[in-house]
Order: sequence, then C-alpha cells, then structure tokens
Amino acid sequence: MPLKKIFLILLCTSLSWSCAQEQTGTDRETEKKISRLISQMTLEEKIGQMNQISSSNMGMDQGLAEAIEKGQIGSILNEVDPARVNTYQKIAVERSRLGIPLIVGRDVIHGFKTIFPVPLGMAATFNPTVVEQGARIAAREATATGVRWTFSPMLDIARDPRWGRIAEGFGEDTYLTAVMGEAMVKGYQGTDPADPASMAACIKHFAGYSAAEGGRDYNSTFIPERLLRNVYLPPFQKAVEAGALTLMTSFNDNDGVPSTGNTFLLRNVLRDEWDFSGFVVSDWSSVTEMIAHGFAKDPGHAADLAVNAGVDMDMMSFAYITHLPELIKEGKISEKLIDEAIRNILRVKFRLGLFENPYVDENLHKDVFYAPDHLELAKQTATESVVMLKNDGTLPLDETRIKTLLVTGPMADAAHDQLGTWVFDGEEHATITPLQAIRDAYGHSIRIVYEPALSHSRDNSPAGIRKAVLAARRADAVLVFAGEESILSGEAHCLANLDLQEGQSRLIEALKAVGKPVITVIMAGRPLTIEKETTWSNAVLYSFHPGTMGGPALADLIFGLEVPSGKLPVTFPRSSGQIPLYYNHNRTGRPFLGNETLLKDIPPKAGQTSLGNTSFYLDLGADPLFPFGYGLSYSAFAYTNITLDKVSYGKDEVIGLTFDLTNTGKYTATEVAQLYICDKTGSVTRPVKELKYFERITLNPGESRTVNWTLPVSELAFRDLNMDLTVEPGQFELWVAGDSVSGDPVLFEVH
Ligand code: NOJ
Repeated sequence: MPLKKIFLILLCTSLSWSCAQEQTGTDRETEKKISRLISQMTLEEKIGQMNQISSSNMGMDQGLAEAIEKGQIGSILNEVDPARVNTYQKIAVERSRLGIPLIVGRDVIHGFKTIFPVPLGMAATFNPTVVEQGARIAAREATATGVRWTFSPMLDIARDPRWGRIAEGFGEDTYLTAVMGEAMVKGYQGTDPADPASMAACIKHFAGYSAAEGGRDYNSTFIPERLLRNVYLPPFQKAVEAGALTLMTSFNDNDGVPSTGNTFLLRNVLRDEWDFSGFVVSDWSSVTEMIAHGFAKDPGHAADLAVNAGVDMDMMSFAYITHLPELIKEGKISEKLIDEAIRNILRVKFRLGLFENPYVDENLHKDVFYAPDHLELAKQTATESVVMLKNDGTLPLDETRIKTLLVTGPMADAAHDQLGTWVFDGEEHATITPLQAIRDAYGHSIRIVYEPALSHSRDNSPAGIRKAVLAARRADAVLVFAGEESILSGEAHCLANLDLQEGQSRLIEALKAVGKPVITVIMAGRPLTIEKETTWSNAVLYSFHPGTMGGPALADLIFGLEVPSGKLPVTFPRSSGQIPLYYNHNRTGRPFLGNETLLKDIPPKAGQTSLGNTSFYLDLGADPLFPFGYGLSYSAFAYTNITLDKVSYGKDEVIGLTFDLTNTGKYTATEVAQLYICDKTGSVTRPVKELKYFERITLNPGESRTVNWTLPVSELAFRDLNMDLTVEPGQFELWVAGDSVSGDPVLFEVH
C-alpha cells in the first residue's frame, strides 16, 4: 500500500470518518462539527436521525410535529408543499434540542413538474448531456418546494422487459447505464450540492433487484459474484465516484441474503472497496420485510441485521425507532456503529448546506415550474428518445401532399398516460399530446380527423375500431398511437405477456386492411412484442412514455422537422418466451448459425436428432425482433476505413481508433456511432459483444467526417477466474457500427 494511503487511513481513523478522498479544510471542519454534535446527542436523538417517515403516514400533523421536536425524525419523504416543508423544518431547527435540520426526500424520477421521458427513453437518446441537463431541471423544480433529496437514478440493469420497473432504468447495458447514471448524479447534485437548487441523488436499488426471477417484482435473484461485479455493480461504482450522496438498498434477496441485511454489499463492496462516504437508506419497509423473507424473526432482529449490515436510515418500517434503544442496551448493537451511521447522515446534511440554509423560498416555485427552457429541453429529450423501427418511405409525412389525416388510437390524446410511471407531481393540464400538437401545427393546412377507436390501451370494444376504419377510408394517411397506459409499467406492474393489448392489435390490423399508409407510434414503458403490428405498419416509431412535451416532439418527427436519432437501450424480443434475451450474453459452445431447422421444417415422425446442434428455439430461432443499439433515420450512414493505430497494445496503453462516417442520405441527421468489443478467449467465458463507447455525430447530407476515438486498454478489464479485475492478454475483436449487430470486426491484441 502506498505510504500516502496508509497515512490517510491513519488520519481518517483518528478523525473517525470514512475516508472517501483527501480531506479538504472544509471537510475537516465539517467532521469536527459532526463530532461535536454527536457528543451532545442523546441515544434517542441519534436513533431519531436514522428514522425516515412519510409526511402523510403519521396520521395527524400534531404527531409529526411533536416527533420532529423531540428529535425522533431525521428525514421526511413525500412533502412537496413549501410552506409545510418550512413549518416542519422550523420545528426541527428552532424547537428541537440540537436544531438538526430534516432532509426532505421525494421520488423525482424523470422530472418534477416538467416531465421528461421515462429513464428508458432517456437512455434511448444516448445523450448524457441532455440527461444531465434534465436532472438539473428536475432539481431546480423539486428544490423549489423544499425537496433536497431524490430517490433517483435507478441503476438496475434490466434484462427482462416483463419486469415493470425496466421503465425506470437505462436498459440492459452496463456501460450505457453507468454513463447515464453519472450524468443524472451530476445533474441533480450540480457542481455544489449546497446550492439550494441542488438535491442529493440516491442511487438504487443496491443490488441486483432487476434480475428478479421471471421478471416478477420483489422476487429472489441468483446472481453469482462474477456476474454481479461484471454487469450489475459497475454503474453503482461509477455513480459513487461521481459523488452520489446516498444509496438505497433493494427489496430482493440474492442467493438467500436480502440486500437490506447484506454486509458483503454494504460494507465490503460499498464502504471498503469504493470508499462511499454518503449514507445508505433502506427501501420502503425493506428492514421489516426481512421477516417475510424469513431472514429475520421479528422487527428487532430485522433492525439488528440492517444496522449491522450498514443501513444508516430506516425508510418507513419504524424498526429502528422502536427497537434500537433496547438492542443497544442489550449490547447487540454497539453505540459506535450507531455513531457511524449518524456521521454518514449528518455529513450529507452538511454537504447539502441544510444547516446554513434550511428553508425554501415559498414563492420560488412560481417562476420555476414549467419554465420555457425546461419545456424546451423536455421536448429535445423526447425528440431524441424516439426510435424509428421501420420506415418504407412513408415517413416523414409531407404536409403539402396530405389533405386528410386520420389520428387514432388510445394514446393519441392521453395526457396522463404519456407521462409514464412514477409521476406524482407532473400534471395533465401542462402536457401536450400528439393530437394537440398535430392540430396546433397542421390543423390550418390539413384536415385532421380524430377517432380514438379505443378509450384506453386495454379497451377491446369493436365499435370504435369500426368508426376508425370508416374514417381511414376517407383519409390519405393514418397515424395510430398505441402502446400501454402509464400504470402498466413501473413498480409491481409486471407482465407475463408483452403483446400489444388485443384491441389495439385488432385496430392496427383493420387499418392496414383499408390500404392507406399506416404509421404506428407506440408509447410504452418497456419493449412490447410487436412483430405483427410492425408488419402491418408502413412505419413504426417507438416512443418510451415521452413526458410533458411528447406531443410536439412526435409531431416534429412525423412531419420531418426533426429526424429520428434514438437507438434501443434494450433488446426487443419477438415473443416473451425468448426472455431473457440481451445482446451481451456470454459465448456458448454452440452458437446459433441462422440455418437451423425450425419447427415448420421438421417432418412428421422425425427420428431423434439434435436438429442443428446450436442454441435456439425451434419456433423462433435465436434472433430478437430488434437488437440493442438499433434505430433508423430518415437519412443513412456509412462507416468506412475503421483503423486502429496498432495491432498489439500493452495493458497500460490507449487504443487509438479512426473511422470515416458519411451521411449518405438526404437529411441532416444525427447518428449514434457505437463501439463494441469481444474478448475472444478468457480465463472465464466472455460476452459475444460489449458496448464500450458511443457518440452522437451530426452530419449534413453527403458530409463525411473522420472520427478519432480512444479507448484505454484498462476498459477491457473484467473479473477473471480468481475474481480479480484484470485485462487478460489475447485477441480481441472490435466493431464500430450503428447497432449491436452490424459491421465487420477489426482484430487487435493485448500483450
Ligand atoms: C419503493 C421503491 O422501490 C423505491 O424505488 C422508492 O424510491 C421508494 N418506494 C420510495 O417511494
């Protein structure tokens, strides 16, 4: 160990704080203040800091006020009325014995008032700049109510679209999730978390929550350590390095150990390996849910397990406030452990500047909510998040050639549903639907006929479909907005069948039969299995629930004022039976070749055979409907002259990569160029491909640009047979392409 590190550890230990980085003068001052406070705190006050409750869950206001005054509450969640926040804060600061401010939390997941696309849509932009700016706007709006802590970003890698919470994360890829997670942390916390317009990020759910068996929320996970470290943990580590101030545990048990009682995750990995210096909060009642897991026998035991594992704050299970006093008296939990938790919590309160600046300006929100620049960025993000999956030339629509346009489908004018999951504060009245936007922009030149056909995404009644079909006969083109209501994805909203709900499928089929061009726009919180509907449509735009400005964004794309540039952050299966289906799976001994005998080709009374001897389904082959990274443009791009600066690299070197990207189409457009690698041989099997870098590049028609990228060889590291993070020497393949399946590999070596 280098001497400097030993010295720092000694210094930090003597000051008894966890040493995330070298202490600055201010840090030292803060730690001294924390020590002073801790020395004055009674046991009850200490335990109070570890207790988080919902403002609506204590029943009477009086009860809450009293508890705050007695120092029994460290944090409240879900209070967004600035006057009430100030009232509670005043009690904490002016009437509680030590005047420790509250930290007020809220699920601000994809915007506060101005709603951005669901995080899965944000990931489809492949644009961390807009994601960071969007998080900043969310912080500006939420902090105007006094909320200084958001339970976001969710960094769970989702390889199963049946899991409803796939909407809340950045998809299936570790690198993309890490990039987007870092962007969100930076956006929320700003350059200075003490800025009153900044809020603490909470990275969640630690860890592996998204791998719930069968995609059923809250279910068990079985993630071996190598997979955990290679795939699920890196986005969290990156966010910790970016300064994330808090972290939330997850509901699942992994291989039998619930995350809220997982010492390996919370102490060994998070504190010892990553030097995390913020605080850890449980998920909602996940402390006492360890009883239902059969891991704790009663609430006291659950509190004991959670505190010992390293959960600093108990969200809504009341186990700490009720049982820690006796557990400490009985010597089951040392007061030193409690002091460490308090130190972590107080450190975050100091970093947020809550001691100096506890109150919110109660009038600020009037100028901040839905500010024009917020709406502008929400529109840009929504525009960039839309992925074009098919286009036979029908799009973009030419305003001058269409006399009558039919707008139909249950999502055409669904202000509530286009906002997506986890929206508590965004409002329908501020939301612009596609129907509104198209009427506003084109109503003067085109006859817009609106027939909703179905009242909501699960409506199956045929009467409306008949009306839409009649209207389609008199129209020059048909725009059908289908998908799923916001409530069909998100927490606990999992599905076994990902097909478009029956009525919508029938609607698209019936419209296709009319013979007019059909443009299908899907708004959803997850990939849906839309193979048939894609065949029936001339063009398909996939818009993960796009938020407040989804309507204008889609109108601009449909009429060619904007060119689609989104790419899929997740693989689209053809059928839910293929799940899990993700691009970066490990290499098998018998990979699918594409010429296998399928179900329809097997003769009756066929004798026993292994039918092609590869890994595939007889009825569906092995390919997805659309691969990760896929997305079309109104233009087209060519990748040529992909060249590396060497053939062999040392482990400390940087790979220099050059290629020419040409816009071969007729529109100025943006391409998301993607870099993938494959480690051909390892001490353990490696993925067929892994995304390592990407860049959005805008080119005019006919324009060509030589692009230079660098990739440190250290980025090729993975957990080897001994679980060490290693770059193993050997051969690698590298692709630069517009998705995860295109392009030819370039070979290089690491020595
Ligand atoms: C439970 C969810 O799992 C978590 O993501 C959320 O932040 C908390 N509830 C608080 O609402």
